[in-house]
Amino acid sequence: MKVPYSYLKEQFKDPEPILQAFRDQLTRCEFTFGPELEEFEKNMARYTGAKYVLGTASGTIALSMLLKAVGVGWGDEVITVSQTFVATIGSIVAIGARPYFIDALADFTMDPGLIEEAITEKTKAIMPVHYSGSPAHMEEIMAIAEEHNLPVIEDACCAISARLNGKHAGTFGSGGAFSVHPLKNLNVWGDGGFIVTESEDIYKKILLLRNHGLKTRDEVEIFGCNARLDTIQAIVGNYLYPMIDEITDRRIANAKRYDEAFASPELFEYITVPPRRLEARHVYHMYMVLAEERDELLQYLIDREIEAKIHYPIPMHLQQATLAEEPPFGRTDLSRTEAQCQTLITLPVHQHLSEDQLDYVIKCVQSFYRRQSY
Ligand SMILES: Cc1ncc(COP(=O)(O)O)c(C=O)c1O
Repeated sequence: MKVPYSYLKEQFKDPEPILQAFRDQLTRCEFTFGPELEEFEKNMARYTGAKYVLGTASGTIALSMLLKAVGVGWGDEVITVSQTFVATIGSIVAIGARPYFIDALADFTMDPGLIEEAITEKTKAIMPVHYSGSPAHMEEIMAIAEEHNLPVIEDACCAISARLNGKHAGTFGSGGAFSVHPLKNLNVWGDGGFIVTESEDIYKKILLLRNHGLKTRDEVEIFGCNARLDTIQAIVGNYLYPMIDEITDRRIANAKRYDEAFASPELFEYITVPPRRLEARHVYHMYMVLAEERDELLQYLIDREIEAKIHYPIPMHLQQATLAEEPPFGRTDLSRTEAQCQTLITLPVHQHLSEDQLDYVIKCVQSFYRRQSY
C-alpha cells in the first residue's frame, strides 16, 4: 500500500472552484494587491485574532521583514534554535544579523531556561519556532523577553491554528510569521506567507518594507523589497480558509492514533513520543517521534512504500554554511538537538490518509521491531 507524504494531488483533484475564481479575477486583471489580498488578510486576522495581518511573498521574507521592523540589523544577535528548517536562520542572516543558537526541549521547541545565558550586549531579538506545529513555550519566553526588554519574533511558519491556552501561535510576541507554502497546513499554489502583529508601528513598517519602501507611487520612504503575496495566491488561500479547522482536526486525530499505538507496551521502548502538553494545540504540520535504529526503520518503511522522512538529519549549527562563519555564531551546548537529529523520524500524517493507510504504517513499524516481514 502506498502512503505518500504529499497530499497535493488529492487535495486539488477538483480545482474547478479555484479556477473559476481565477477566471473571475481575470476579468479585472489586477495581479498585485486588490480585494482578494485584502480579503485574505481579513480572513487571517479573523482566524488568528490578530489586529493587523499583511500577506507576504513567503514565510522567510516575513521573518526578515519583522526583524527589520523591530530594529534588528547588521551584526545584531538573534537568539533562536538550531532544531529548525534553514529558513529561520536564513531570515536572520539575510539582513546581516547573526543567530545565537540555544538547545531544544524534548518537544523540539526552544528551551526557555537557556535564553538568559545566551543574552549578550549584541542581542536584539528572540526568535522561537513553533516547530512542526508544536507551540513553543511562549509564556516563559515572553516573561524573559519582557524582563530584558527584547522583542520576540515568532516563527509560526508551520503553525497555522496552533494555540497555547487558546491563544494563537504567532500572536504572543511583537510579530509572527506564517508560511502558506504548498506543504503547509494552509497552502497556496506556490510561495506565500503572512505576518501578524498587534503593533501599528510594525504594521506600518511592513506595509512599506514589502512594497519597495514606497510611501506613494513616486516617493521612497525607506529601502524595502518586493515581498507582497500575489493576488492569485490570495485567491487560493481564501478558498481554503474555511477548511483550516477540518484539515487541522484530521491531522490531530491521525497523530493521536499514532501516539496511542506507539505508547503500547510493545512499542514504547523503541519509539519515544515527545511530551504532549494539555495546554498546547499541536497541529502536526509534521508528525515527528524519536526511533531506535532510525535509519533502518526509515529504509524499512520506504521499502514498503511509506514515504517517511527525516526533518532534519543535520541541525543548523552543524551545517556547512554555519561552520564557514567567522567569527562563529554564538551557541549554548546543543547536545539535545544533536541527539534528536540522530533519531527523529517524520511519518505521513496529512488529512487525506485513510484509516487503512494509518493502520498499515503502524503495522509496518510493529513488524520492523518484531523483526518480521510485513
Ligand atoms: C520552521 C520554518 N520556518 C520558516 C519557513 C519558511 O517558509 P517559506 O517556505 O514560506 O519561506 C519554513 C518553511 O518550511 C519552516 O518550516
